[in-house]
Amino acid sequence: MHIKSIVLLIFILVEMSVAQVFEVVSPNNILSLSFNVESGVPVYQVTRFGRPLIVSSKLGLILNNDIDFSSDCTVSSIERNYVDNTWTQVWGEKKEIRNCYHELKVVLVKNNQHQSRINIYFRVFNDGIAFRYCIPKQDNLKEFQILDEITEFNMAADHNAWWIPAYHWNRYEYLYKKTTISQMDTVHTPVTFETENGIYLSIHEAALTDYASMTIIPDNNFKLKADLVPWADGIKVYAETPFKSPWRSIQIADTPGELITSYIILNLNEPCKLRDTSWIRPGKYVGIWWEMHLGTSTWGSGELHGATTENTKRYIDFASKYGFSGVLVEGWNIGWDGDWIANSEKFDFITPYPDFDIDIITQYAKDKGVRLIGHHETAKGIHNYEDQMTDAYKFYKKYGVRSVKTGYVGHGQDIRRIDSNGIESKEWHHGQWMVRHYRKSVKKAAKYKLMIDAHEPIKATGIRRTYPNIMTREGARGQEFNAWSADGGNPPEHTTILPFTRLLGGPMDFTPGIFDLIFNDARPNNRVNTTLMKQLALYVILYSPLQMAADLPENYLNRLDAFQFIMDVPVDWQDTQVLHAKIGDYVTIVRKDINSPDWYLGSITDEEGRNLQASLQFLDVGKKYVAQIYCDGQNADWKDMPYEYEIKEILVDSHSKIDLRLAPGGGQAIRFKLAEEKDIVRLAYIQ
Ligand code: NOJ
Repeated sequence: MHIKSIVLLIFILVEMSVAQVFEVVSPNNILSLSFNVESGVPVYQVTRFGRPLIVSSKLGLILNNDIDFSSDCTVSSIERNYVDNTWTQVWGEKKEIRNCYHELKVVLVKNNQHQSRINIYFRVFNDGIAFRYCIPKQDNLKEFQILDEITEFNMAADHNAWWIPAYHWNRYEYLYKKTTISQMDTVHTPVTFETENGIYLSIHEAALTDYASMTIIPDNNFKLKADLVPWADGIKVYAETPFKSPWRSIQIADTPGELITSYIILNLNEPCKLRDTSWIRPGKYVGIWWEMHLGTSTWGSGELHGATTENTKRYIDFASKYGFSGVLVEGWNIGWDGDWIANSEKFDFITPYPDFDIDIITQYAKDKGVRLIGHHETAKGIHNYEDQMTDAYKFYKKYGVRSVKTGYVGHGQDIRRIDSNGIESKEWHHGQWMVRHYRKSVKKAAKYKLMIDAHEPIKATGIRRTYPNIMTREGARGQEFNAWSADGGNPPEHTTILPFTRLLGGPMDFTPGIFDLIFNDARPNNRVNTTLMKQLALYVILYSPLQMAADLPENYLNRLDAFQFIMDVPVDWQDTQVLHAKIGDYVTIVRKDINSPDWYLGSITDEEGRNLQASLQFLDVGKKYVAQIYCDGQNADWKDMPYEYEIKEILVDSHSKIDLRLAPGGGQAIRFKLAEEKDIVRLAYIQ
């Protein structure tokens, strides 16, 4: 070797060995993320109190035309930033959200002919970290394809994980499994981990806007890699500069409850883009729905047709009498007869069945101070829906409808797409094409002042901050599985996992509130696997700004004492706190009403009965409250005694402690109502 080359080689080696490490710390100095380029490969790691949480993990995107941003890169410059502000939610589980982080922007240059550039932004919050890739405008890089995302989340040990599998036909609708990382499948996010030292982490993404959904693939040694759901042609993402990926986020907490009160997913999304949000109103609804799931009426026409004028009026009367703002009606439009999933292209979104007189119904609803909630089941006939979307939304707007529930039933792996050349392909539910579709629906709905409640949705990634008309969505096994699922429905632990997994992404339209838990006549092999009181507690536990009272009116009329809680419970909150939390075992949440001084508590358990104690320190000091307690009876049990319950009132204040008796598969709900003088007198001697 020539002497000059040797000198150069030594120089490069020295350069690389002192390759600079850039560190970003959380505002409280507990979390630290460090970034460096190791032999041309961008990597990051995360520590907490100096101990590794995420060990050296690769970063980068591989584009077409041999632009590989995961190797042969150098740092060209960096920028640092500190942000601390507070913003107000249009609606939500907490009104004021603090957004506080340190940011590092790294400009990376690929050592290729054009010196292609990519920027990586890192944000470190007290409750987690996040990063995203941005490709700025540059000569020689305009339209491009992403062939792979190299992002890794390499865990320091074989932690416990709660996950649902990705790439299965039923999208997100699976029961969560708890295994170690080494036994994990390829999984959807949010996926949540518990370390041996009792730290909780949840990997997810924020601001999924025009990109493929991220799933996570484990490999040996607890390495986790981002995996993007591809288009039918294998390309992961079609994009152009300037380009921003969604944020990759890791929520990090000392307790599982702190995952629930971490708002980084929202903070990573852009502020509200709608100028007027006055028409966006959270609310509670009833609807022609459960009867179809029980099979006692049908979506399609005929003798058992559920969506008739008469039946709808019955629900409107009920809603009006008991204070519900909306009545959902499914099966109102042409397209449900025969195999509606196979015939998805036949749904007509502006033509009601003849026995559903929408003029009469909407006038009747208006007179009673209630609004119809629209329903668009697409059965994944995306082209059919997009072709009619404008007319369909205009139609509802004309009738004073403010919310539309959308649906995408069908296999999530073969959604029919026809491109501009007439070529047909089958797309994944979670791919970029569908991400675009869901956004189109939300934006167009906003134009017609419609709120959306999407079932079989694209996953929640905090878009509700930017478009607060995307109110809620399903995206997990909801109540309906209890009506017909061949596996017997959701086991009692299901709802003790959802708040720490699916709901970290955002609200869920679970549709709680079934009072007739055992329906032998309708479905002898199914039932709801909870006590009645647990159904009440779910209104506080599973946050949704549109919350359904899912059962039939007659079942509520039978138990008006317990129904009172559903009538009272709000759907828009000033604050949320978690009092107890053990993933898969139990959880207690308290929330403060946005419109009154009242607080509400929900506590639920899995199949094991428990006694928990709640300190009421969250109440205003020096004030007395009436605790209206809805609790499982002494002998209650989800299996044999689901209806045994007790409703009582006691006086409490911020120094009080309340024993929460939770039956196996049970729950407890409490309203803390600011006490009036007469309550103080009335309840003075009651313990
Ligand atoms: C599945 C939805 O989750 C459910 O709520 C709806 O009733 C049916 N699809 C029919 O659209």
